[in-house]
Amino acid sequence: MTIETILVTGGAGFIGSNFIHFTIASHPERRVINLDNLTYAGNLENLRDVEGSDKYRFKKGDVEDRELVSRLFDEERVDAVVNFAAESHVDRSIEEPSVFLRTNVLGTQCLLEASRAAGVSRFVQVSTDEVYGSLGETGLFVETMPLMPNSPYSASKAAADLLLRSYFKTYQFPGIITRCSINYGPYQIPEKMIPLFISNAMEDREIPMYGDGLYVRDWIHVMDHCEAIDRVLQNGEPGEAYNIGGNNEHTNLDVTLEILRQLGKPESLIRSVKDRPGHDRRYAIDSSKIRRELGWTPKRSFTDGIAETIDWYVKNRQWWEKIKSGEYRAYYDRMYKGR
Ligand code: NAD
Ligand code: TYD
Repeated sequence: MTIETILVTGGAGFIGSNFIHFTIASHPERRVINLDNLTYAGNLENLRDVEGSDKYRFKKGDVEDRELVSRLFDEERVDAVVNFAAESHVDRSIEEPSVFLRTNVLGTQCLLEASRAAGVSRFVQVSTDEVYGSLGETGLFVETMPLMPNSPYSASKAAADLLLRSYFKTYQFPGIITRCSINYGPYQIPEKMIPLFISNAMEDREIPMYGDGLYVRDWIHVMDHCEAIDRVLQNGEPGEAYNIGGNNEHTNLDVTLEILRQLGKPESLIRSVKDRPGHDRRYAIDSSKIRRELGWTPKRSFTDGIAETIDWYVKNRQWWEKIKSGEYRAYYDRMYKGR
């Protein structure tokens, strides 16, 4: 299958911008169109270095805007779509779920319709391990498990997964789902745990640890995730779902202690705050299917990946300071004051 033009949605966000960097560097034959409506999470600064390239086009627009999306498909001969566009923060979904349903569910459906009409050869839906719900102390998520989402965010992502499935069954639409564990790396905005804790520590501010801090996540470097999506795009089987994980479980507390150690900051910065409602205790993922069938494995160890990530936030202080001093300030105060 030859892929020349990829429509990447949500390419100005954390994973999308890393995926665009990766694609332009590793597939010089491909052209990338980035459709993003630049919510609070979208940042064109992330893509300054590719802006002038004839292999890249940015289109500002909402994935739920039927007219705009169908016009874009008329203008461009899109071979494949990778759908990153989403509202992605669990805490925001608890505060205000409706935009999550609009973008993550109706936006995906709008893209599916336009992609089906255009006859694209692949559509990768970038989903999450959170659709499976929460695990006890043992066990791993496998692709055949029922979806049991616990937050409005994960429920909206699960709904999109089911839409993909229905389009494959009903229309033989060549959709594939990826379900990745939690990512870290450059260009992640400081509302998510790792960049929030790194930047707070650098500013000598308190680190707001939800509950006892013993929640477990399987951390994966964003570039390992991007490489996995690339494999799925090229060689994945339509109608299938692929788990992607780092095989790298840590409690939030352990990750935080490592960040503080590397930055030379005191553990006394940690403050236990009121827990997230419905907080999933443990996520852990079995990614043997993508390893076996598509030959993917994560390349970066957590020790190296987190050191490299901390270094990026140290060297790019202006990038996150600008975010933290903008409208984000009001969000932060609302979320954490008196908690
Ligand atoms: P992000 O919040 O950093 O970026 C989302 C991007 O989508 C932003 O650029 C935003 O402007 C854009 N966007 C939002 N609504 C839009 C709309 N209606 N129309 C067009 N663009 C819109 O998110 P992220 O962390 O990069 O996550 C990307 C995808 O990966 C999401 O689908 C998320 O569910 C999934 N995912 C994330 C993780 C993680 O750890 N961050 C893990 C697994 C899966
Ligand atoms: P987060 O980065 O929001 O990602 P997700 O909810 O998608 O897993 O949260 C990761 C973990 O960090 C999660 O267990 C919640 C916890 N957390 C805190 O303890 N304090 C915080 O301020 C944030 C944002 C998250």
